[in-house]
Amino acid sequence: MRSARQFFKPLAIGAPAPLLDIPFRPSRMIHFFDPSNPKMAAKVPSLAKRCDILLGNLEDAVASDRKVAAREGFIDVARSTDFGSCQLWTRVNSLDSPWLLDDISHIVAAVGDRLDVIMIPKVEGPWDIHFVDRLLALLEAKHNVTKPILVHAILETALGVANVEAICAASPRMQGLSLGPADLAASRRMKTTRVGGGHPSYLVRADPDPAAPQAHRPSAQQDLWHYTLARMVDACVAHGILPFYGPFGDIRDTVACEDQFRNAFLLGCVGAWSLHPVQIELARKVFSPPIDEVLWAKRVIDAMGDGTGAVMLDGKMQDDATVKQCRVVVGLARMLAETDEALSAAYGFDAPPQVSPRDDAGVSAADPPVAAEGP
Ligand code: GLV
Ligand code: MG
Repeated sequence: MRSARQFFKPLAIGAPAPLLDIPFRPSRMIHFFDPSNPKMAAKVPSLAKRCDILLGNLEDAVASDRKVAAREGFIDVARSTDFGSCQLWTRVNSLDSPWLLDDISHIVAAVGDRLDVIMIPKVEGPWDIHFVDRLLALLEAKHNVTKPILVHAILETALGVANVEAICAASPRMQGLSLGPADLAASRRMKTTRVGGGHPSYLVRADPDPAAPQAHRPSAQQDLWHYTLARMVDACVAHGILPFYGPFGDIRDTVACEDQFRNAFLLGCVGAWSLHPVQIELARKVFSPPIDEVLWAKRVIDAMGDGTGAVMLDGKMQDDATVKQCRVVVGLARMLAETDEALSAAYGFDAPPQVSPRDDAGVSAADPPVAAEGP
């Protein structure tokens, strides 16, 4: 294990110093685009105005004969687009693939200064992050990249889940994790062919009625992903990094997608992947705190004064712990409202934006919105 003193020193001479805290900017959706598809690439400038994060995908869903075109297309888009407050990420090919080395080295050389985060698929343990960490430091030094490129890992193998805490702790570059339900299902030999969401056969059934044992017994579908998602959220928060739900593959089923996103939001995720423009709006809605919750949370914060003691509000007990819950909600709302006038008005915030959207010195993942909060 590296000593605490070494942990925040650059891994290559001339590389930028690692960040002490992971910046937390609006991250409600990571919208995927295929940079090998010129039609999709042409839509990036307008998507950048609607998305918190745009990700050029080089990995799965890009055919092997399109890998080089995707990498080059991503570099073109990164060079030619004004992303404004939208973050720019890429998902590179897996660490054992023939494309990974060129993906990382060409992209950092060409657009390392424009890139916020590199997403690494199929991460199995801290050794995978250590490899990427050193490689990025060498490339940053070589190409005079001044801001450290952060790393996001997809949790999508059984071994990765077993090592989730060690992955989060592996490097100060670790920005967050996404759940990858498709690869994870395959790795675990789960018997579902869906990408995320529930399964009608994964259920709990009511006991039989002794007086009518043949009568219909209601059942309720359960969440296949609850255990992994909850484990991922704890690991991320414990290490000051950000948890995301991943893809929901049934694009037409916007109802179930919204439910899956909301479960993730309620459990602590900051955002989810969007695979189609329709999912951008779903994620924006779900991962922005509901207006009535924000208004209620503001009332609790006001009523609690210095945040200690207990008060009753509409028959509900409030104390030091509930005021912290409310600060999480209001803090997130306030951060999102800084770049969204409609949300700001809906939440009843009258203060003008104080922080520029690209100001990385703002809220960090170690103290997500709570620290930025003010009633
Ligand atoms: C995403 O990459 C997944 O495998 O679900
Ligand atoms: Mg995958």
